[in-house]
Amino acid sequence: MGDTLWHGRFQGGPTEALKELNDSLSYDRRLFREDVAGSMAHVTMLATVGLLAIDERDAILGALERVRDELETGVFVFERSDEDIHTAVERRVTQLAPAGAKMHTGRSRNDQVATDLRLWVKAELTEIVDLVLRFQRTLLRQADANVDAYLPGYTHLQQAMPVMLGHHLLAHGWALTRDVDRLFDAHRRTDVSVLGAGALAGSSLPLDPDQTADLLGFARRFENSLDAVSDRDFVADSLYGLTMLGLHLSRLGEEMVLWASQEFGFVTLDDGFSTGSSMMPQKKNPDIAELARGKAGRLIGDLTGLLATLKSLPLTYNKDLQEDKEPLFDAIDTVRLTLLALDGMVGTITFNTEVMAEQADSPFACATDLADYLVRAGMPFRAAHAVVGELVRKALAGEGSLPDLVVGHPDLGPEAADIFRPGQGARRRSSPGSGGAQPVAVQRGRFEAQLIADQQRLEALRRS
Ligand code: ARG
Repeated sequence: MGDTLWHGRFQGGPTEALKELNDSLSYDRRLFREDVAGSMAHVTMLATVGLLAIDERDAILGALERVRDELETGVFVFERSDEDIHTAVERRVTQLAPAGAKMHTGRSRNDQVATDLRLWVKAELTEIVDLVLRFQRTLLRQADANVDAYLPGYTHLQQAMPVMLGHHLLAHGWALTRDVDRLFDAHRRTDVSVLGAGALAGSSLPLDPDQTADLLGFARRFENSLDAVSDRDFVADSLYGLTMLGLHLSRLGEEMVLWASQEFGFVTLDDGFSTGSSMMPQKKNPDIAELARGKAGRLIGDLTGLLATLKSLPLTYNKDLQEDKEPLFDAIDTVRLTLLALDGMVGTITFNTEVMAEQADSPFACATDLADYLVRAGMPFRAAHAVVGELVRKALAGEGSLPDLVVGHPDLGPEAADIFRPGQGARRRSSPGSGGAQPVAVQRGRFEAQLIADQQRLEALRRS
């Protein structure tokens, strides 16, 4: 059994209870690539400032490569003394190359773990953005494939005014562009190297944190070592971005649950993306959409859990900070799976455009457009609202159909009743950003341009 990192100072070994609570290896081993990369940069820097001989550097770098291979292929043997991934890697490197005993010079696990985690977050956020963009393209493709379709728009879940289906789908698409922006922003804040901050106060050795920042591809280095080792804002920022994204997916999921119901019947889900019932043979259930809804709760838990951990922590590193990883890993995994499944579900959905149209063509959905007709003829909107409202009341009271009442009204008449022709309400809406056919075509172009710009931003990040 190997020694603890602090065996010089202690007489007894750690108890089982301490190890079980304290060790983080079971989950932080997924940071092994970042840990090896961080150590390589550190060791390279130590040699350039004269703290390691060239042959020592090369022996350690060779051992680090081997350790990475062992971890990659699953042949790495962990020992009981391996408290976390940092301990495990250093212990094995030192077994392979005695110079490994020098690799922790001027470094603490406090700056090491924060650097590893930042490297990991940067890569993962990039992948999540990639998946969001893919899902946005799926929404756009469905909008294009159903370019003539329209449906009722809702407020209070009551039919309000008809809109083009593309308008509704792109509404979700635009919310996702804000998520992409937030994730880019979290990435930018994460892009700071904290290696060289040491345990908390830096070092009396001639370290060069700019060099390690550069070697690791960070945009800049930390400014204050105390802040560097205690700062987990980048985890909170990332979790907030992921939670908002999950929240948007939950809203879309909820609508798909409603739309797939017998009561709405707006969509039919592909068999590959729905489930059946073990008892009721007729059932086809929208589980993916329901889980998109449900997983948002879990993401909110990840975010609030981390915020509670950070609250009131004194400077600088405290072991509480080890609790940053599990919620972060969970949120990334949850969002990735949800995005992939939703993308498949929405990409294969059939929109029942006749059912949507039938609902949207309900005469009452055109009431606002009728009032607008009167406004165009010079009537104040309040008066127009009252005129149409009275006709709606009469129609509901059985005094005639709304179209008949419109035709017979002195201020309205047959020309106004043209609005009742199928699809007129949605198609005719014309103001910029509105749900009519023509403005939606304009919006579609802008949305696609935004996707291209975001894709380019992503490629630039990947190259940097
Ligand atoms: N496993 C620890 C973490 O994730 C590494 C840092 C330990 N630092 C220390 N001073 N005990 O936070």
